[in-house]
Amino acid sequence: MGVTAFFYILLSLWVQDAAAIIDFTRCDFAQDFVFGAGTSAYQYEGAVAEDGRSPSDWDTFTHSGKMPDKSTGDIAADGYHKYKEDIKLIYETGLEAYRFSISWSRLIPNGRGAVNPKGLDYYNNIIDELVKRGIQTHITLHHIDLPQILEDEYGGWLSPRIIEDFTAYADVCFREFGDRVKYWTTVNEPNIGAIASYSIGHLPPGRCSDPFGITKCTVGNSSTEPYIAVHTTLLAHASVFKLYREKYKAEQKGVIGINIYSYWSYPFTNSTVDLEATQRSKDFMFGWILEPLVSGDYPEVMKNIVGSRLPSFTMVQSGLVKDSFDFFGINHYYSFYVSDRPMETGVRDFYGDMSISYRASRTDPPAGQGVPTNVPSDPDGLHLVLEYLKETYGNPPLYVHENGMGSPKDSLNDTYRVDCLSSYMGSTLDAIRNGVNVRGYFTWAFMDLFELRAGYQSKYGLYRVDFDDMRRPRQARLSARWYSGFLKKNGSSLLISRTQEDLTRNTVS
Ligand SMILES: *[C@@H]1O[C@H](CO)[C@@H](O)[C@H](O)[C@H]1NC(C)=O
Ligand SMILES: *[C@@H]1O[C@H](CO)[C@@H](O)[C@H](O)[C@H]1NC(C)=O
Ligand SMILES: *[C@@H]1O[C@H](CO)[C@@H](O)[C@H](O)[C@H]1NC(C)=O
Ligand SMILES: *[C@@H]1O[C@H](CO)[C@@H](O)[C@H](O)[C@H]1NC(C)=O
Repeated sequence: MGVTAFFYILLSLWVQDAAAIIDFTRCDFAQDFVFGAGTSAYQYEGAVAEDGRSPSDWDTFTHSGKMPDKSTGDIAADGYHKYKEDIKLIYETGLEAYRFSISWSRLIPNGRGAVNPKGLDYYNNIIDELVKRGIQTHITLHHIDLPQILEDEYGGWLSPRIIEDFTAYADVCFREFGDRVKYWTTVNEPNIGAIASYSIGHLPPGRCSDPFGITKCTVGNSSTEPYIAVHTTLLAHASVFKLYREKYKAEQKGVIGINIYSYWSYPFTNSTVDLEATQRSKDFMFGWILEPLVSGDYPEVMKNIVGSRLPSFTMVQSGLVKDSFDFFGINHYYSFYVSDRPMETGVRDFYGDMSISYRASRTDPPAGQGVPTNVPSDPDGLHLVLEYLKETYGNPPLYVHENGMGSPKDSLNDTYRVDCLSSYMGSTLDAIRNGVNVRGYFTWAFMDLFELRAGYQSKYGLYRVDFDDMRRPRQARLSARWYSGFLKKNGSSLLISRTQEDLTRNTVS
């Protein structure tokens, strides 16, 4: 027996060990519940200047050296060239659904107007490939990846002009892909996205104002722009929802929702001020997006604190935004402990308005500005988020759109990811058993990608990608095999006793 075969037999045993901690199977979830994994256009595709794609704000950001590790998504996981074999891998892994995003600037390089036939082909090919293999397609229209030309022309999400352009882009997507695609998400993480892009400046377009930026910004206004960007996003989302309902829904019978970034907030103490701070944290992070969608207006606490810096909805806008969703998607990675921090007088940013301090654990000192790094995963937190959304927003259909574990470790033997995945899936099941309307669970990410902050320094993939190799070969991690066993074998036997041939089949280069 060769050393490699020996290794894989050991790996099999660890799969079983890791599986020992779960006491549920695929069959405990409804049959129409879906398990999947995700990627996003800029993080996956590469080929940034190929076949007519124009730059997005990500290209501008990375090419001006704004990533901590100076990386770019120029090649990323090379998904533009490797999508076919990747979808084969998705199929072989047994995933039931795949979540990805469309690059607006690949499909419509001028931001509006002419459709790029090569871009159209690319997404049609992906969708056809998924359909052929019976994998449910979930598409995000905007995953922090705006055509730079619209940023230059009118400031992107800061201008109401984007509403018309985003709606026209969505119209092309529904018209061209909607015959095969039933699950649409308008925007990924507009809440944390607005903070990162316009308050602390560490995602494109990288705007902020002193003293709030993490990086030095030359343009922006941290105390106003995040609120403006979210306001415009909500109006654009509502406009796209209306378009779909009026023009496509009857025939295509799809559903359309929005996604938010979520973390659970535990009160650091049970003092009244800490309990109020914890509620503020939920209202600012979830309520900012979801309250308008459910009730037509921002949370009272935000209106009181942010005052005139928070844009307001006209009656007509409020009516459009209210109920403009079929589901909410949530991205969830960890929880924080929250305590009250006295509100600053004078100019404040989003975090100043929230006036809370975060801790990663009970024993940590409060983080300085913003949130701590290096937060442990907390499966109970996901359960609590799901329950909170059910109680607060009228039991909407929910998808866990992203959940996973980033690690600097490049190991194939990612027992830590198997633990994370299995316990979060378990907490999702607990929530479902308590009546939360969860429809699907997607892990982030299907493979290692260009990560939005960490570049190539943090690995999230079920599949490892070798970014030092121009061919970007993929290799299954233990987590891919574990997930596969859970899905294909009803979780009852997670012992993977494959031959060497079976195992190498998943290694694509
Ligand atoms: C940000 O906008 C507010 C409200 O318009 C204004 O008072 C403040 O001076 C602006 N800050 C910067 C840095 O431009
Ligand atoms: C706050 O009260 C809850 C419910 O009584 C309790 O479970 C929790 O441990 C308390 N938290 C702290 C930090 O004392
Ligand atoms: C895999 O990881 C587990 C847990 O960290 C460890 O016990 C085991 O030795 C590792 N196996 C290999 C082959 O590296
Ligand atoms: C899956 O496993 C559960 C628990 O072991 C069992 O009750 C169920 O019948 C199984 N279903 C299938 C389709 O194998």
